[in-house]
Amino acid sequence: MSSFHSATALLLVLLLGCFVASMADFSSTVDITWGDHRGAISRNGQQLSLSLDKISGSGFQSKQEFLFGKFDMKIKLVPGNSAGTVTAYYLSSQGPFHDEIDMEFLGNLSGQPYTLHTNVYTQGKGNREQQFHLWFDPTADFHTYTILWNPQQIMFYVDGGLIRVFRNHQSAGIGYPSKQAMRLYSSLWDAEDWATQGGRVKTDWTKAPFTATFSNIGISGCAKTGLSSSCDASSSAWMNQAAVTSDLQKMNWVQKNYMIYNYCRDVQRFPQGLPPECSL
Ligand SMILES: *[C@@H]1O[C@H](CO)[C@@H](O)[C@H](O)[C@H]1NC(C)=O
Repeated sequence: MSSFHSATALLLVLLLGCFVASMADFSSTVDITWGDHRGAISRNGQQLSLSLDKISGSGFQSKQEFLFGKFDMKIKLVPGNSAGTVTAYYLSSQGPFHDEIDMEFLGNLSGQPYTLHTNVYTQGKGNREQQFHLWFDPTADFHTYTILWNPQQIMFYVDGGLIRVFRNHQSAGIGYPSKQAMRLYSSLWDAEDWATQGGRVKTDWTKAPFTATFSNIGISGCAKTGLSSSCDASSSAWMNQAAVTSDLQKMNWVQKNYMIYNYCRDVQRFPQGLPPECSL
């Protein structure tokens, strides 16, 4: 190896090393933005907890905004009777015509399954829900939830397994988030009016405070600085990532066995016809 190449390699290793270290650390990556003492960073920046009581929930957001990225988070959801609680993990831009990519975990009675609710908003319009039950107890341990957003598609993963793809069909006139930078947000709040079994089961406040725990935050994205955005060293991997056969097999398995709602099959809701992306 020439000295030029070894110097470049060393620099790359240093850059990547720096990057990984800072991104796993909540203190340098996010700000707790509401809920007072209910949001707390611990373990030297490696863990973050959000809690909810009768007075307030809590939440945090990434310090930076990104135009495309891969966002990994390990989450251990509220255990026991979590009915009425919502733990949200999502990307969103600002303003009335905002774009948004959601993963929301709707709590349930002890022993009843959580619902993972996913949605994609473009220009302020959502209505693209898919919901799933999980094939494990998400309160017993940390599991990894990933949103990968690149110019070709949005992919949702659970423990590295693909569960949903939303493709860019802008050429067919279908909205796709591709111009507005987004921040990563997470929050724990109460939605007993609708969250659990359609709102029939309310929150049991004698069990409060409710707590969800986060670790291993991993953001690899194109951070917005002023009017432009610059991508980090590992961006090329996810920027061109597409679903391969094994991803699609996993997704088919999840959708066949654990999907409980798909807007693309809800003909009663869309009497004028299903949204156009459903037939592409
Ligand atoms: C809660 O449990 C019920 C019964 O198993 C299930 O139908 C529902 O999807 C679960 N999730 C929520 C958020 O209600």
